[in-house]
Amino acid sequence: MELVRATEAAAIRAVPWIGRGDKNAADGAAVDAMRKFLSTVEFQGEVVIGEGEKDEAPMLFNGEIVGNGRGPLCDIAVDPIDGTSLTAAGRQNALSVIAVADRGTMYNPKEVFYMEKIVAGPSAKGVLDLERPIGENIRALAKALGKTVEDMNIAVLDRPRHDRLIAEIRESGAGTELLLDGDVAGGINAALETGRIDMCVGIGGTPEGIITACAIKGLDGVMQTRLHPRNDEERQKAIDAGHDLGRVLTQDDLVRTENTFFVCTGVTDGGLVKGVDRERDRITTDSVVLRARSGTFRRVTAEHRADKWLGEGA
Ligand code: FBP
Repeated sequence: MELVRATEAAAIRAVPWIGRGDKNAADGAAVDAMRKFLSTVEFQGEVVIGEGEKDEAPMLFNGEIVGNGRGPLCDIAVDPIDGTSLTAAGRQNALSVIAVADRGTMYNPKEVFYMEKIVAGPSAKGVLDLERPIGENIRALAKALGKTVEDMNIAVLDRPRHDRLIAEIRESGAGTELLLDGDVAGGINAALETGRIDMCVGIGGTPEGIITACAIKGLDGVMQTRLHPRNDEERQKAIDAGHDLGRVLTQDDLVRTENTFFVCTGVTDGGLVKGVDRERDRITTDSVVLRARSGTFRRVTAEHRADKWLGEGA
């Protein structure tokens, strides 16, 4: 539960940067706040999945030790803002995210920036197969959910690399929910089986993949992934590091323990959590905490005194 204070802090500190067109400044404010709050949490965390190498964004770097130096040894994956561009543009669906698991259990595919992903809820167990055409997966999941294919909505990052995939989804009869950014929230929304999204597919960041896996374990959902090198150089690096590029990796391969936590706080409003809301002297945050071992899904709404956040006190 202490972890949620770190995502709340990151989200609150990002607020002044919403809609200011500077994604690195937003990320920097979130990283600093997250780092500060993580230093108070009773665990010995090693950052296995940091973020930002792609565009030299400020980051909690891989190998950084966080926590107060006491308590359990853990791997930690952070995404101080998943949706830095969304935040900079003032768009919806930006989240601050942390995932934690026992030390040595998180897969670390740092050589490869992207992975293919397919994510859905518990009904998809034994139903989905990343290696099958998307139309077949949609038909199979529709049957498992007791829906018609026409009622199915598939979330995909809106990228030119997905043009063919998007066309195939629509050819199958299903609809798309095109995400500007943020396939962590897309995957979780799919796994919840309550909202509009039934499945989230496509190529997204590997760090976000590991983080999503922690959430999917908590939701008892289904996730299959496969590394997707951008070029020959990345491919070679991955092979040299011992990765099997053909292997389909499930959430249990990405995080090899049931002792996982996932926490996220909304930066801007989204389908999963509301964004930070400031009204007069109160700041309200909306978060989700997922624990795989117990399967608990907690919503945490917190009210913070705004004056505490104006100075250095918070
Ligand atoms: P950041 O905001 O952390 O940069 O990531 C946003 C995101 O949309 C992820 O959710 C997704 O996995 C990844 O970027 C996709 O990468 P790209 O923008 O290169 O397609």
